[in-house]
Amino acid sequence: MMDLEKDGLPPYSYSALPEVKIGGTKQAPQLKNKRRSMRRSRAVRFVTLACLLFIAFAQWKQSRGLPGPHHPRKNHGLSIDRLQENLATCAKLRHKPKNPTGLGRERNARYVDGQKPTLIRNATVWVGEAVGATSEEDARAGHGFAWIKADVFIQRGLIQTVEADISLASLPEDTLIWDAKGRQLTSGIIDMHSHSGVDSLPNLVGNDDTNEMSSDITPYVRSIDAIQPLDPQFQVIKSGGVTTSLVLPGSGNNIGGEAYVVKHAIGQADGRSELSAEDMLADPDRNWRYMKMACGENAKRVYGKAGERGPYSRMGESWAFRQAFEHAQKLVREQDDWCAEADAVGIEHMSHYLPEDLEWESLGAVLRGQVHINTHCYTIPDLEAFVDHTNEFKFPVRAFHHAHSTYLVPEILKRAYGDQTPASAIFADNMYYKAEAYVGSEYAGKILFDNGFDTIYVSDNPVINAQHVLFEAARGYKYGLPYHAALASVTSLPAHYLGLGERIGKIKPGFDADIAVWDSDPLSVGAAPVQVWIDGTAQFKDPVELNKSVSSPIVPDPSLGVIPGEPVRVKDIVYTGITRSLLPGMEAPATTEEGSLTLVVLDGKIQCFGSCEAELRQASDAKVEVISLANGYVTKGFTAFGSLLGLNEIDMEADTDNGPSRGKAFSRGVDGLALDTKKLGVAHRYGVTKAITAPKYRYGISRHGTSVGFRTGAANSLEDGAVWGEDVAVHYTLSLAAKGDTTPSISSAVGALRSALLEAVTSEEEKKITDRFSEKAFLRKVVRGETALVVSVHSADTIAALLRVKKEVEAAAATKLRVAILGGAESHLVAEQLADAEVGVVLAPLLSYGTSWEERRALTGAPLTNGTAVDALVAAGVVVGIGLYEDWVIRDLALHAGIALRNGGGKVTDEEALEMISGNLYKILGVEEPEGEFLVFEGNPLEITGRVRGVGGSRFVDVV
Ligand SMILES: *[C@@H]1O[C@H](CO)[C@@H](O)[C@H](O)[C@H]1NC(C)=O
Ligand SMILES: *[C@@H]1O[C@H](CO)[C@@H](O)[C@H](O)[C@H]1NC(C)=O
Ligand SMILES: *[C@@H]1O[C@H](CO)[C@@H](O)[C@H](O)[C@H]1NC(C)=O
Repeated sequence: MMDLEKDGLPPYSYSALPEVKIGGTKQAPQLKNKRRSMRRSRAVRFVTLACLLFIAFAQWKQSRGLPGPHHPRKNHGLSIDRLQENLATCAKLRHKPKNPTGLGRERNARYVDGQKPTLIRNATVWVGEAVGATSEEDARAGHGFAWIKADVFIQRGLIQTVEADISLASLPEDTLIWDAKGRQLTSGIIDMHSHSGVDSLPNLVGNDDTNEMSSDITPYVRSIDAIQPLDPQFQVIKSGGVTTSLVLPGSGNNIGGEAYVVKHAIGQADGRSELSAEDMLADPDRNWRYMKMACGENAKRVYGKAGERGPYSRMGESWAFRQAFEHAQKLVREQDDWCAEADAVGIEHMSHYLPEDLEWESLGAVLRGQVHINTHCYTIPDLEAFVDHTNEFKFPVRAFHHAHSTYLVPEILKRAYGDQTPASAIFADNMYYKAEAYVGSEYAGKILFDNGFDTIYVSDNPVINAQHVLFEAARGYKYGLPYHAALASVTSLPAHYLGLGERIGKIKPGFDADIAVWDSDPLSVGAAPVQVWIDGTAQFKDPVELNKSVSSPIVPDPSLGVIPGEPVRVKDIVYTGITRSLLPGMEAPATTEEGSLTLVVLDGKIQCFGSCEAELRQASDAKVEVISLANGYVTKGFTAFGSLLGLNEIDMEADTDNGPSRGKAFSRGVDGLALDTKKLGVAHRYGVTKAITAPKYRYGISRHGTSVGFRTGAANSLEDGAVWGEDVAVHYTLSLAAKGDTTPSISSAVGALRSALLEAVTSEEEKKITDRFSEKAFLRKVVRGETALVVSVHSADTIAALLRVKKEVEAAAATKLRVAILGGAESHLVAEQLADAEVGVVLAPLLSYGTSWEERRALTGAPLTNGTAVDALVAAGVVVGIGLYEDWVIRDLALHAGIALRNGGGKVTDEEALEMISGNLYKILGVEEPEGEFLVFEGNPLEITGRVRGVGGSRFVDVV
């Protein structure tokens, strides 16, 4: 029966026509009707004859007293043809899919004729599994994994040979040779949670097909019916080495619909023969089907309208699930009964056709074990309820996604129905955005691993740019997941949970030839592919290669596996083993070996940095604790700019948020400051000691009012030194979020800003100012050049409009305005003009990926573009800062600076990179950077393994 599917008829329609053969060749569908009617007349004759024979047989049998049907049923006027189709359908209903094999294939079913064999020479290869004799237990612990020196030969879309020094003489003449120059080679990355193609970028209403919102339970919709192969994000994702994605419907619905595994080779430019979603299917034979389900906040928020429709609560959601499964179960039972009866008595005795119902067909297939379920569930009640459903209706779940709480409830996971415990498909450290994401841990991956579960890192593209899903895995490693498990989390593990573990995710003979060669260790900061192959075809014609020398793979650092406790506040502490200080004014003495420096802190103050022999003795006498570091670093504290830290705790919970100004209300951040929150605690312990935060305008990076400069570790705003800048800068918004009630268009928003500034120029205005904290008073400071004007804006065109306004106001005021940009996705297009106007840019995010129309011309980096915005701005001489576009990024600020460093082609130094998250922000705003804080790191803070071991204030050190 699988032939039907191989013919290209969709397996999801069990009412599909049976295959008809004429002279041994498969017949085109339009010819089927004629052939079918011919068959029918022959069949009717056959059935008539059969009936006559049966009657004769029954009478003979009755006369012999043999058991049998006492009332033999006749064909109740039903079409025998259709009954036969029904019987064929029974075989499909009973079919138990198996994982498709890899080895033994002559060619990859996706192979396009004419593509040449390729030899990738001199690579450092990660096979993706432990060497031969390693036991399963040892392999889980990481034994038997290694980077090996090898060549990889690929032909007919398959990996043929992985061996050192493959002889050219043994290969076909037309083999393409590609020299890896010793660089690291892995399987293509697999993202098990993507909406690329259905949530195309840039976001446009006309292109949004993520959720079928007409009903909460839509198992009958299919993502393949909406996948737009021309979504530019597919190519961006591929430029991060991602070759395969599971494209899921969104999580608005409890049951969202069927999902499809696609590869990112699209159309002729990528070596395909056609431009279609069908052609993108990773497994053209469609052995497995996939379905998205979701529990928790989304469905009740989207559908819950009291008195009109549900579900309104998690209780209602569970009922919606159970009722849906009950429907499907009923269909399955009726079908099974029919098929069993048809087998027993023959179709000619059936009194009705096979029960079929397209609405419940796919969910029936779930209950038949033909569909891999991926369910979005955050919280313990969600997980527990869903596990309960799996046992009530007897279906397995492959993975819980957004599974922020799975690490807390191993016993619940173990209770899930089936042989395979569900994996957790998670982000590394993205949390806090809604109540169910408020409980989360960056150590979840490690904890799950330690409990014997599998962690898979996913993007939820475009929630996270899937181009960098590998960076999620890298941070998984940073937070304690072993190196081999972190690599597996985006290669072999998702492959396994997709049922494609013999096809993708490893570099072995018989696997599909999906390969990425990296410019640096794949788990290092800023790693980018230099080339990517899908089914053996190189995907980038003219890839941009960053200026990075070939480096050795990371040597896994087992100390990362120790989860640090809560910071302890002390006054006296000694750190030894320091290699380098990046703290301005405290540079390391010239001749020191690695780790030979000591930092002595007494009474909260740095007493000594260097060899510090006398101070060490003194500290030892006083029994001060000594922390010995491996490769220690000292830096200044970091600053969060552009976030909502201090004004917001959970994005989607209004009660936890200062609230949006939405138009008229211009306010001061200091008046809304709410300190001592969980988010601020995290900021502080990750070295972000200060923040500059303005009230939000509406969504995204939009801001309106004055920003407050404060210390993240303060208990309240009255604490000494808590607020170091009451009104650091004046913020307005010219992003798309500016379009609202008071300014319905971008032009009116630009006009309103110009008009307000020009008004502030006239001296009569000054006389009218009675409230020195009013908008007018602050604008007066802006036009005098005393306070910076920070504008949230992404579009290069709107930045151009802003630069014109700046000139016009400067001409009227006869002063120079200090203007800065927050956002700046397209700022690289006007880099020279920004430099001329001395306008600084705080990139938020550092790496835009064109999610909205105003960001669509963002540079996404190598191998697609020559650098990103930061490179163009630095090259033009613009002062650049790195801001936060979402607050959870707080843990990653130093890593983002690391990306600017590593991918800067040697143009940025370590010190300059760290200035992007500290000093440059102050330079851009024209204010003094508050001093007195320092950070102690184990490892380089700009690299994946660097972690904070001490956060020093002026009176104490929080020791981690
Ligand atoms: C492989 O690459 C390394 C690093 O670039 C180089 O030193 C070595 O000579 C290369 N070996 C061969 C056989 O090309
Ligand atoms: C990339 O841009 C830099 C300048 O920022 C230039 O020197 C280099 O030649 C460019 N590389 C390519 C491949 O275009
Ligand atoms: C490449 O980077 C190195 C430092 O890593 C630098 O010395 C060199 O000038 C850079 N080369 C180019 C072409 O930019």
